[in-house]
Amino acid sequence: MILNLKDLKTVDVQNYLQHAIAPRPICFASTIDTAGNVNLSPFSFFNLFSSHPPIVIFSPARRVRDNSTKHTLQNVLAVPEVVINIVDYDMVQQVSLASCEFPKGVNEFDKAGFTMQGATIVKPPMVKESKIKLECRVNEVKSLGTEAGAGNLVIAEVLVMHIDESILNTDRKIDQTKLHHVARLGGDWYCKVDNTNLFKVEKPHVQIGIGIDALPGSIRNSKILNGNNLGQLGNVCEMPMIDPAFDDDRLKNIIQYYSISPDEMEKELHLYAKQLLDSGKLTAAWQVLLAAV
Ligand SMILES: Cc1cc2nc3c(=O)[nH]c(=O)nc-3n(C[C@H](O)[C@H](O)[C@H](O)COP(=O)(O)O)c2cc1C
Repeated sequence: MILNLKDLKTVDVQNYLQHAIAPRPICFASTIDTAGNVNLSPFSFFNLFSSHPPIVIFSPARRVRDNSTKHTLQNVLAVPEVVINIVDYDMVQQVSLASCEFPKGVNEFDKAGFTMQGATIVKPPMVKESKIKLECRVNEVKSLGTEAGAGNLVIAEVLVMHIDESILNTDRKIDQTKLHHVARLGGDWYCKVDNTNLFKVEKPHVQIGIGIDALPGSIRNSKILNGNNLGQLGNVCEMPMIDPAFDDDRLKNIIQYYSISPDEMEKELHLYAKQLLDSGKLTAAWQVLLAAV
């Protein structure tokens, strides 16, 4: 299917894009108006865009339904400060409740059952229950249009971070396994980060990887190795050499058993290499594959 977005209704554009650009982290924004009334609302059009200066951006959009603007937008235009509370699984149902369109002046901390906690340098309160809170100054609000559905980029500079002790490791850094972020996808879908779905991808080397195009043809065109496996193999800085010290019983068995059938041998070696790659053993996988080249 190919979609030309200008032929679609805004509600459908939003639907396709929100299902496609997912998962999105959730900014739970606390703001105030000039009279000091507090507002608390979630926004998943949100991300980190710069570390120096430390800039995050979220976007309260004009309502598709009636083109009205959100209280959060009105507040940051009047009082350019925001506390961004990071949303984790323990809070997700209350966060969703806070997104109801309560009338202006209603404090969603009360409606959604969160505790207000004073920030140190900005006026809006923090959500005590959130495990990470960012005190921010709003540097700029960039409107993306005047039609219903148009976003408004709230460009915010993070001044102070509050991090709950319970999610720190011994180096005083955030332990990714201890914070169960939730993120928004399309429609009513959310996802949760936890030990069952976290995985690591080794960063590309400072030296440049050889690339998949530099792999020997028999590896590159393997019917067994998939794109992820080739990505791992192409990430080495130089083509590995056979290591005579590599001693592996299964490799020896394959070479011995399939010596009369090179095609079968290659298949078995690729199956074994795939197993090794899928369990992160890149060096051993290379040694197994070199036996087939
Ligand atoms: C998880 C979640 C994410 C949301 N993300 C956005 C968003 O990025 N932009 C937006 O305009 N509305 C978003 N909404 C809807 C707003 O939270 C909702 O319109 C809210 O009532 C706005 O409140 P306010 O008028 O008090 O600022 C989201 C709702 C939920 C539950």
